[in-house]
Amino acid sequence: MIDASMSIQITTKTTASSLSRTEFLIVFAKQGSKVRLPKGVVLPANSLDAFKGHARETRVTDAQRGNAKRVLLVGVGASGDIAEESLRRIAAMVSRQAGQAGSRSASVWIDLPFGRKSAGVGQAIAEGLVMGSYRLSEFKSQAQPAGLKRLVIYAGKDFNAGVRRGYAIGTANLLARRLQDTPANLMRPRDLVREARRLAGASQRITCRAHDEKAMARMSMGSLLSVSRGSSEPAYLIHMVYKPTKKPRKKICLVGKGLTFDSGGISLKPSGKMHEMKYDMSGGAAVLGVFHALAALNPDVEVHGLVPTSENLPDGKANKPGDLVKACNGLTIEVLNTDAEGRLILADALAYAAKKIKPDAMIDLATLTGAVVVALGHELSGVMGNNESLIDELVACGEATGEGVWALPILDYHKEQMQGSVGDLRNISGPETGAGSCTGGAFLSYFAGNIPWVHMDIAGSAWGAGERDYQGGNVGTGVGVRLLVHYLQNC
Ligand code: BES
Ligand code: MN
Ligand code: ZN
Repeated sequence: MIDASMSIQITTKTTASSLSRTEFLIVFAKQGSKVRLPKGVVLPANSLDAFKGHARETRVTDAQRGNAKRVLLVGVGASGDIAEESLRRIAAMVSRQAGQAGSRSASVWIDLPFGRKSAGVGQAIAEGLVMGSYRLSEFKSQAQPAGLKRLVIYAGKDFNAGVRRGYAIGTANLLARRLQDTPANLMRPRDLVREARRLAGASQRITCRAHDEKAMARMSMGSLLSVSRGSSEPAYLIHMVYKPTKKPRKKICLVGKGLTFDSGGISLKPSGKMHEMKYDMSGGAAVLGVFHALAALNPDVEVHGLVPTSENLPDGKANKPGDLVKACNGLTIEVLNTDAEGRLILADALAYAAKKIKPDAMIDLATLTGAVVVALGHELSGVMGNNESLIDELVACGEATGEGVWALPILDYHKEQMQGSVGDLRNISGPETGAGSCTGGAFLSYFAGNIPWVHMDIAGSAWGAGERDYQGGNVGTGVGVRLLVHYLQNC
């Protein structure tokens, strides 16, 4: 069970209040201004002499007097070049440092003028502090260093409003990452269902229904059901709904690929990196993460979250290359490669959304193609769809959050390349076409109906990203959570 108590706790106070006794005090300092310490805290003479407040500069000293035992000074750079992404990384760096130094709790003192940017800065710093505290230790038999568990942040009022937002978003990212990193035998479709139900149980504004295989058969979701036939774990279509307290401005639907393990099926993947396919549910993890944040942020949009979830395994009942399946919008699909299964489960989920939910906009997130890793690497997600302005909005959200996205085309000939010979469609294009991410998106476009829709291919960005203090290396990134929350708050 993944619960919030695993995350760090944050409380906020203003710098007008006096510092409560703390073992470890983190003080943010700007280049070119005097270091502002809490009243009563005295550092040894000369200990500040060489400290300039450059971005990422740190210095640890024992306090001589006052309510703090040890003090970590951290520089954020000069006013002119302070960017939110830089602050997010600096905050993550100190939160990791504090955890590694064995501190379970710490206080953070930020008595700096950020002006109109205060709330945004507070959000970025809180996101960094929270994300930098991530560790996955519950699967080790020996007790692990506990890491940072509690933080008290002293800052201005506007800043602290941002902190509360950043805390909600940071813990949402952590939830998504924990779902991602949990091994596939412990994160099966039924486990994702349990996590979705738990989120709904924790908020009066969130409901969750999980359609089981019987219900999906009644809805004629032959495409989705063909993928789970090869597994002894049943598939589900999770449908979460968030309703705001105010009248919603819009209705948005998020769809996340929830393949808890993708072996490729009969078109079996090579064994080398097959274990990484526990991450094939990263889109679904992001959708659940977003719902965690929605409960806390209460934006005035109605949000539907769909997570089709299944395993893809070879078996006597599994899809065979050449099999014909039928999605719930009536289109028939030749399954020429059983490893192109993500689009098969998304097809039914998108068609269900277009028919039953009829949202103003629909965004799917999926670890859909290895080709997008080749095209864009691990720092960007590919975005494509049927609506230019929605694509532009998501590109802007990527720039604002640091979860970069890059637009790829879906052109008519990509769609033609997905036309079937026996059935209406084929689930892979011919070997000569290339553009695997675009043809994957082109396939999905047949199921979005006339709803403004964007597909995010997160196969590169979902794990294995470069070092950013708050993420990086061979673990999940929770990509999509921060970007989508930003989108939902600004759409
Ligand atoms: N889950 C994979 C995509 C993937 C591959 C994600 C590598 C991350 C890293 C997806 O289901 C898949 O197997 N796609 C195939 C599609 C192909 C058969 C058209 C792929 O990319 O090879
Ligand atoms: Mn696959
Ligand atoms: Zn897959």
